[in-house]
Amino acid sequence: MCGIVGYIGSREASAVVVGGLKKLEYRGYDSAGMAVLAQNGHIELRRDVGKLSNLQATLATSPLAGHIGIGHTRWATHGAPSERNAHPHVSMNGRVVVVHNGIVENFATLRDELEAEGVVFESDTDTEVIVQMIERYLEAGEALETAVRHTLQQLKGANAVVVMSQDRPDTLLCARLGNAGGITLGLGQDEMFIASDIPAILEYTRQMIFLENRQIARLTRHSYEITDLDGRSVLPEIHQISWDPVSAAKGEYKHFMQKEIHEQPQSLIDTVRGRVDFENGRVHLPEMNLTPELAQRVQKLIIIACGTSYYSGLAGKFMFESIARLPTEVAYASEFRYYDPIVDAGTAVLAITQSGETADTLAACELAKQKGATLWSIVNAVGSQATRISHGYIPMQAGPEIGVASTKAFTTSLVDQYMLACALGELRGTLSPQRLRQLVDDLAQLPYLAGQVLEHDEEYEALAGLFFKAKNFLYLGRGINYAVAREGALKLKEISYIHAEGYPAGEMKHGPIALIDETMPVVCLATQDGLYDKMISQIQQAKARDGIVLAVATEGDEAIRVEADHVLYVPATPPLLSPVVNTIPLQLFAYYVAVRLGADVDQPRNLAKSVTVE
Ligand code: F6R
Repeated sequence: MCGIVGYIGSREASAVVVGGLKKLEYRGYDSAGMAVLAQNGHIELRRDVGKLSNLQATLATSPLAGHIGIGHTRWATHGAPSERNAHPHVSMNGRVVVVHNGIVENFATLRDELEAEGVVFESDTDTEVIVQMIERYLEAGEALETAVRHTLQQLKGANAVVVMSQDRPDTLLCARLGNAGGITLGLGQDEMFIASDIPAILEYTRQMIFLENRQIARLTRHSYEITDLDGRSVLPEIHQISWDPVSAAKGEYKHFMQKEIHEQPQSLIDTVRGRVDFENGRVHLPEMNLTPELAQRVQKLIIIACGTSYYSGLAGKFMFESIARLPTEVAYASEFRYYDPIVDAGTAVLAITQSGETADTLAACELAKQKGATLWSIVNAVGSQATRISHGYIPMQAGPEIGVASTKAFTTSLVDQYMLACALGELRGTLSPQRLRQLVDDLAQLPYLAGQVLEHDEEYEALAGLFFKAKNFLYLGRGINYAVAREGALKLKEISYIHAEGYPAGEMKHGPIALIDETMPVVCLATQDGLYDKMISQIQQAKARDGIVLAVATEGDEAIRVEADHVLYVPATPPLLSPVVNTIPLQLFAYYVAVRLGADVDQPRNLAKSVTVE
């Protein structure tokens, strides 16, 4: 949540910062702003409410020149989205400027103290206390680094900040406190970059450092130095990022979401590449650090996640129970801490998170560890906090996901869980070599099957044209495809703002059936698996109440045409992998409905890609 960019070097800072913010706009779009240290040694600022394009328009008529700058795109927490609440925030006497991501939990107390000392606040934000405190320390004669450290030591909550000061025109400082979203340092040749996420600076450098909790970095154009909050020097790990800058750009597609839906065959290939040994029928997950002893010690698995990642976990439960015979619960990470979960040394907790930064998920991870669980994670963002705190993890190979609505991270995380279930099943002795081989073989066709669905892209566009005016949708699925119904409904509601419910099909008659009439499209997951006949009878029940049925069905199933009003065919897929293939038509349908409605597909209202606040 909130995107941060900083630059120091010989380029025009505004070009680098605005270019970077453009790639981070998925993190928040309530307002945007940037500041540079101008040639005259003063801080100059531009800020605008709304999307980055407004700031770009301002900069076009009123440019900022300078070679050191910071910028921000905001998802509002404290203070309404307005120009005065937009970042960067400048201190009262104009010596310091700050951009910030997170929440200063004790900001009210700190603000009262500062006001009592005569500081006049200009905004309603919690951020402003940071910049005013730093300036107070500077005025008391402290050096910038010390002033920043003293300030950060007093902040409560998870916070990431970048600080620029006219007192030190050769320096940028940034820091991370807790899980407020990452701070990534990009190391260039005589230039340095700061960003909350890799894509913002990927076109300039692949060498990156991820700040850890309670670390401060001091950057000049030629050097970097990292210390902890007490000033002790830290030797960071430098990561070589393999992501391709082109894959972080929209290319020929109209929206990132559309591009990312179409990238799924490739991301599925990348997911199995190097991990699935098709020749010997084995799965290797090196970062999981699995041993036979650990796999056998685990008596219970709890999957924790939010949103789309939670729905991925709902499907994963079927994989872990069927393949590894491991009893599995799935919990909303945001609830996990509040129901006193039963977790002990025999429990493994698996966090699924695209961003690796979701505050609720990270807090649930910490609790699981405190209670003695083995913590595993499936994470897309390289170097994110979730991987660092886990005992073992699987790096998703989805590549950068920029569209706010998650697509390829969902399908790749399904395959990651499937592979983990296979690895655990083998180590726990729950799989015969024949079954393991079959499960592994089933993966080989998956990217191809996903690609086949995408070939029917224009059918979904046409179907969206028939349904985009509907006000409510019901999505029904059973067994593992119940997860797909939930995910399909979420995709529709978040990008088109149409109300949609995902429901277990068998539960329809216990309530939701009352909603069905001739205005209610009912999307039914009815591919041919063990529950096919049951789904047909749900379809018949919906039809008997005049519902309009759109069925996702297996290619060749002509009989279903008699039951459903519209059929979306997908290729036959082994049941445990069917959510991967069955989700794609629902992603495309949601996408085209939103496009027909003229909605902002990549940046839906009120949402942000990484939810780093509770
Ligand atoms: C929906 C969506 C969200 C995220 C959720 C968790 O399309 O993207 O529901 O899935 O906020 O995010 P991660 O996976 O980053 O923890």
